[in-house]
Amino acid sequence: MLRPDHAELLELDWARSITEWTTPRLVDLPAGISRHAVRFVALERGTFAVKELPRQAGQRDYDVLQDLEARGGPSVRPVGLVIRGGEDPGSERAACLITRYVDYSFSYRELLSGRDFGPRRQQLLDAFALLLAQLHLLGCLWADCSLSNVLYRFDAGTIDTIMVDAETASIYPVLSDGQRRQDLETMVDNVAGEMMDIAASQGLPIDEADFHMGEDIARRYEGLWAEISAEERIRPQEQFRITQRINRLNELGFEVEEIQVVPHPERDHVHLKTRVADRNYHRNRLRELTGVEAGEDQARQILADLQYFILAQGGADTAPGKALLAVRWRTEAFEPMLRRLAAVIGPKADPVQAYTDLLYLRYMLSAGSKRDVGTEAAFEEWLRVGRPGYPLPGGS
Ligand SMILES: Nc1ncnc2c1ncn2[C@@H]1O[C@H](COP(=O)(O)OP(=O)(O)O)[C@@H](O)[C@H]1O
Ligand SMILES: [Mg+2]
Repeated sequence: MLRPDHAELLELDWARSITEWTTPRLVDLPAGISRHAVRFVALERGTFAVKELPRQAGQRDYDVLQDLEARGGPSVRPVGLVIRGGEDPGSERAACLITRYVDYSFSYRELLSGRDFGPRRQQLLDAFALLLAQLHLLGCLWADCSLSNVLYRFDAGTIDTIMVDAETASIYPVLSDGQRRQDLETMVDNVAGEMMDIAASQGLPIDEADFHMGEDIARRYEGLWAEISAEERIRPQEQFRITQRINRLNELGFEVEEIQVVPHPERDHVHLKTRVADRNYHRNRLRELTGVEAGEDQARQILADLQYFILAQGGADTAPGKALLAVRWRTEAFEPMLRRLAAVIGPKADPVQAYTDLLYLRYMLSAGSKRDVGTEAAFEEWLRVGRPGYPLPGGS
């Protein structure tokens, strides 16, 4: 089962276990802890992850990932499932799941061992809670949510989280509160175990492990869930609160799919209920306007830059005028700068992330000198003092 546009994957040696592969296409990339063998191959169409596992687990992983992809879910993109007919279905090499490699991603171990981890801890916990809430909204019961089943990637000033392992997951039309609670409990247990392993690997006594991290994530999840699923009472003179609520959900990145305003039969107010879909609000807007692909928070920053460009050109009154300026922004501002940045940061770093770093620098310089310094001056400053970083939470 392979998607038709990935025929070059067929040329790999599927008769042999991936652990025996010697093809020059293999690339050594950092991988998290895993039960199964995972290898990476670089082909013309991109880099792919291949995981070898029993047939049933592979089928489930593939099905859930396909389902999530169709719903715009935050998960790795499935490309194919190879089934080795001659093998016993329960054997560890009965199937191979192929997914698209998530560029510029890293595992939690790399994040935790990084110099900046202290202040980044908050971001990690928030991003992790957000991932679980997003999956639950889409009806996905993970059943094995853990730090190592998630990929991390810098997303403008925040961290983006992507589900990588769906072997145990299932999709329902809606999850009950009981199902969500059960998933949270598993997460708390898994995270405690992972923090214990980390403490052990650093030679620390077990009681110094960060046991409460999972509970902290669960608390953040609850806050977020309450925000997403809130029902509000709105009085006649408060119609603006409907717009306010939609803006707030969009700010969090959620697409609002449906708004229900139910008049209260006796009293003088209405009930407002919203249904949110995937968390791709800014990403979708940016793609529609410019065709550029970016992370959700990167897209938010880049949309602001597009607006800045449009204003600098004197603005646009009509939709076609705006579309034309969007094309000019891409070819005159965005793409040339992306190439210049790529030359500075090298092939292993994400140029779109570098672009948002540059936007942040431009903002800081402009705020400091109380006038717009422009992108060029920001880029020169970058070359002079080195790559800027977003401020870390808790930092000054
Ligand atoms: N598409 C992918 N992109 C980047 N890394 C991946 C991808 N798929 C797997 N990995 C890496 O392999 C590790 C193990 O994958 P996972 O699906 O969790 O396997 P297992 O079922 O053995 O736990 C992940 O933590 C990640 O580091
Ligand atoms: Mg796993």
